[in-house]
Amino acid sequence: MSFNVAIDGPAGAGKSTVAKAVAKEMNLIYVDTGAMYRAMALYMLREGVNLKNPEEIIEKCGKAEITMRYENGIQVVFLNGENVNPYLRTEEVGEAASITSPVPQVRENIVRLQKELAAGTDCIMDGRDIGTCVLPGAQLKIYLTASSQVRAKRRYDELMAKGEACDLELIKAGIEERDYRDMHREMSPLKQAEDAVLVDTSEMDRDEVISELTRLCRQAFASWKG
Ligand code: DC
Repeated sequence: MSFNVAIDGPAGAGKSTVAKAVAKEMNLIYVDTGAMYRAMALYMLREGVNLKNPEEIIEKCGKAEITMRYENGIQVVFLNGENVNPYLRTEEVGEAASITSPVPQVRENIVRLQKELAAGTDCIMDGRDIGTCVLPGAQLKIYLTASSQVRAKRRYDELMAKGEACDLELIKAGIEERDYRDMHREMSPLKQAEDAVLVDTSEMDRDEVISELTRLCRQAFASWKG
């Protein structure tokens, strides 16, 4: 049996940055499930699918084969055999993923792949439905969140550092819209699992979050090992 950590929370809470650091510290594989939904969304965008039409999404999703491999500990996502890692982290793809990921037919194969991976590997997996749906038996579940104002400001600072013009209020509105979609969809909505530990990072810096999550992981690992 493998040791699994589930981290869920809204967009911009810092899940992937923190999960990556904790995975390294704890010698676990880091599984970024959002990247798989992003790969599916990339396929829809490339195919020119009308995202307002779920029928079109359902028809096309069977033609996109998403697979994953780990190269030097880094997750590489393949879309019909092509490494699509370089194309996944754009606003356009993130926005499209939040529209296509609620479709049950999109989730079916992706969730199956995630479950198979976790069954055979000690891992830390982040997403929206990991503790509630993908890994209900995970040894540790964390719900990582922060206020939308703080999340927007972090994103704003990131974009400014890259020299990209942006508007804080627009970013905040986008984050709140995405939260609403993720939390109110019919299938696997984002919510805190009953047995998840809530970590609100609004008043914490990155290193404080990493050390708190590492502490929780060590504790869970020790009690799992018995
Ligand atoms: O975490 P992210 O921004 O890379 O996720 C992109 C989209 O995928 C997000 O809008 C919600 C969706 N997603 C999901 O539905 N379930 C997951 N386990 C992970 C992401």
